[in-house]
Amino acid sequence: MLGKVISIIALSATLLDASKNAALPDKDIDGTVFLVNRQHMVSKLYAPDTRKVIAPGMSQSMREDAASALEEMIAAAKEEGINLSIVSGYRSYSKQSTIYSRKKASQGQEAADRISARPGASEHQLGLAMDLAKKGSSQLNTRFGTTEEGKWVSDNAHRFGFIVRYLENFEDVTGYMYEPWHVRYVGVEHARELYECGLPMEMYISGYKLEVYDYLIHQVTNE
Ligand code: DAL
Ligand code: ZN
Repeated sequence: MLGKVISIIALSATLLDASKNAALPDKDIDGTVFLVNRQHMVSKLYAPDTRKVIAPGMSQSMREDAASALEEMIAAAKEEGINLSIVSGYRSYSKQSTIYSRKKASQGQEAADRISARPGASEHQLGLAMDLAKKGSSQLNTRFGTTEEGKWVSDNAHRFGFIVRYLENFEDVTGYMYEPWHVRYVGVEHARELYECGLPMEMYISGYKLEVYDYLIHQVTNE
């Protein structure tokens, strides 16, 4: 029995290795569900190709897939009378380092760690995240979640492949305070599932991995 389990695990590992990025897209940094947080950090050297996002607000860039989806989302919001602007998109490792140091100097380390990622731990470095505000504002605070704009983002972002990444009441899981302004591109399929389950990406990814392992083991045992 033990031998069979070991051989199933070995075979699963081989299959996983062979189709690594297809089966576990969170292992692919250029994919859309790569998990970045305090425990899963990005190399200082990682810098994706990005382009400027054409939208009201600051001059910001994102990866092409995320930029196109965000432009579509901001245009759709506008059609519904919701005017959004962009505040902060792609940030290099060194830019994140500057932002974190500034927060730490002004608020102290404990407070800074609840709101700002240390360099290498920010998904802004992936080029897949954007901080949003009401058009004409660049304020990022939790009040955004109670505005028409914030509610629209929370209810509709998934239709365009985005999730509100740092959900209320999940600080112990995500490591960060509720950030209704921070959206992360994961693609439409994952965004819809995440929206429907209402869980943060950390929990979704571990559930997703179990599903993939289960599928592989099922395949192996049925052969
Ligand atoms: N505010 C988020 C956690 C960041 O700095 O990436
Ligand atoms: Zn952000």
